[in-house]
Amino acid sequence: MRRILIVGGKRLAGEVEVSGSKNASLPILAATILTRGMSTLSSVPCLLDILTMIRVLRALGIRAEYSPPNTVKVWVNDHVKHIAPYELVTKMRASFFIMGPLLARTGFAKVPLPGGCAIGSRPVNIHIKGLEALGAKIELEHGFVIARASKLKGDRIILDFPSVGATENVMMAATLAEGETVIENSAREPEIVDLANYLIKAGAKISGAGTDIIKIEGVKELNAVNHKIIPDRIEAGTLMIAAAITRGDVVIKNINADHIDSIILKLRSAGIEISVNGNQVRVHSPDGIKPVDIITQPFPGFPTDMQPQMVALLALASGTSVVTETVFENRFMHVHELKRMGADIRLEGLSAIVNGVNKLEGAPVKSRDLRAGAALIVAGLVAEGETLIEDMDRFIERGYEGIDKKLISLGADIRELKNISDYEDE
Ligand code: EPZ
Repeated sequence: MRRILIVGGKRLAGEVEVSGSKNASLPILAATILTRGMSTLSSVPCLLDILTMIRVLRALGIRAEYSPPNTVKVWVNDHVKHIAPYELVTKMRASFFIMGPLLARTGFAKVPLPGGCAIGSRPVNIHIKGLEALGAKIELEHGFVIARASKLKGDRIILDFPSVGATENVMMAATLAEGETVIENSAREPEIVDLANYLIKAGAKISGAGTDIIKIEGVKELNAVNHKIIPDRIEAGTLMIAAAITRGDVVIKNINADHIDSIILKLRSAGIEISVNGNQVRVHSPDGIKPVDIITQPFPGFPTDMQPQMVALLALASGTSVVTETVFENRFMHVHELKRMGADIRLEGLSAIVNGVNKLEGAPVKSRDLRAGAALIVAGLVAEGETLIEDMDRFIERGYEGIDKKLISLGADIRELKNISDYEDE
């Protein structure tokens, strides 16, 4: 288990570069199953989740290799296996993105039903309903989803909820279906647009990605292509909050401003000075933080993946903020840990009522999910004294490439703790 110790109080300053998007890389890696030949993906972040997806592809008989820095090569031929291994899919629910491509490519897919996780039960019913609409026969047996379809046929599908994963799974499956598929109430996240752009380059006929109606005209086959992954908008937002909470002055490079519009608007409402210059954003926050109300929504609303980090920032605002989580049913675990650091927050239904305090105190804290962990790191940067973050490798490093190194390069006082006794003896 990897632990870090943060000594709070340092203002962040300087420049830092955002890595490629985890949530664009994962579906695009799954989409390579649809293609023939070698795909070269660049700007892929070096993360545990990426390595897990590479292992899933290898388990399907596909050759996939990560070569530093940030490139993945995937060779796909006509011998793709049908069954994804239980131990890998249960490690990372995004492995379920292989269902659509595997079914479309081979006519049969057996993928473990992903379990829930800390932030919610996260069912896949919308994925399954969408694939059944394309003619798939789907059974649930002994914890596996078994899907069969000699040939998928395009149809009109209305998603019950704009699920990111379901939109991606159905869109990938539809690329090789017969005829036209129309996905209505589709998710509009930038990662879906990036996936569509990869597929279009490979020969797919897709229009409307990024809107709530996506049309796909099926084709016979797709050819492997090269693709550069978009920047990670959630890492960008997390670094912006790290700069803001420490009242720092930081330039964050390799961003797409359109992807972080809602984050920029909310941070400006909180009194943070933000200036966008092409693919860079400067975050300068000399004064205090104002309270703002947040309601998480599917894109282009305020992203749920930024909610924990925003709560950490608003814990130090000069008033009360109401943060409402509408996407996941249990995404306030960070609140309990922030309260151990002195935050004044109470939970009421779907909302966290955050009464700003003057300071947070360093403490040993545990992250229960990826973004909760990011929130605790952000809080530790400004807390008085030392904050011990456990389980860096179990959660945080799944989604943030070298986050501690990036923060240290901006002046944060963070060091690795080899033994817990080093902390307890202090
Ligand atoms: C993607 O998860 C992201 N993960 C999540 O990021 C992100 O929080 C989420 O989209 C929402 O933006 C990846 O892209 C790998 P959903 P996904 O399907 O696709 C319910 C992170 O921290 N739902 O849009 O699983 C579901 O339970 C992760 O990087 C169903 O009910 O999210 C949830 O309440 C966390 N049935 C809501 O929809 C379904 O079939 C949104 O889920 C599918 C989803």
